[in-house]
Amino acid sequence: MILSPSMLSADFAVLKEQINEVENAGAKWLHIDVMDGIFVPNLSFGACVYKCIRNHSNLFFDVHLMITEPERYIKDFAEGGADLITFHIEATQKPQECIDLIHSFGKKAGIAINPETPIDKVLDYRDKVDMILVMSVHPGYGGQKYIEEVNEKISALRKICGDDYLIEVDGGIKANNIKSVLECGANVIVAGSAVFNDDITASVHELLKSAE
Ligand code: DX5
Ligand code: ZN
Repeated sequence: MILSPSMLSADFAVLKEQINEVENAGAKWLHIDVMDGIFVPNLSFGACVYKCIRNHSNLFFDVHLMITEPERYIKDFAEGGADLITFHIEATQKPQECIDLIHSFGKKAGIAINPETPIDKVLDYRDKVDMILVMSVHPGYGGQKYIEEVNEKISALRKICGDDYLIEVDGGIKANNIKSVLECGANVIVAGSAVFNDDITASVHELLKSAE
């Protein structure tokens, strides 16, 4: 299991310290939520923000683009220091172009689906991308409740994609439900409020322990 703490819930006044704490506590990935106020109702931050912490962290930068026509900005996100760039299938008419662009910068590519989007929409791309992200809340905000109905999609994807395929689940995951999300077939877990709303080190430890 890979834990990817979501920076959206961090205290940006002390971003570097909090990112270092997450890393020292044992997380390997950092989930970075980019929002444009159009694809989702909220705005967050762009590449210029995570670029500032790139040289202070060895975490794998897992960039989740919740922006419309992501093909316009992939270069910026790649150059900002992303390791993996995930875009939403609902946000572009040009998914193959997005995948090719991401790979052209030597980055891994992921494709995301909203809770109401069926997995059929991305199955044709599963061998072209490195990861599928299943949203378990409506994208836009941290701290929402996990939508149980997505469990079926996670299980179906695991069956189709095989044991080693990266399936990330994002939204509403805490120490008390992480295990059941993993049992459905997820192997990359995003956690925002569950990591940053309390003692960061203790929260990361608790999530890792609950996942065992
Ligand atoms: C929601 C974001 C999530 C969010 C998760 O739009 O994509 O990554 O930060 O936050 P929690 O874990 O609090 O649901
Ligand atoms: Zn996210």
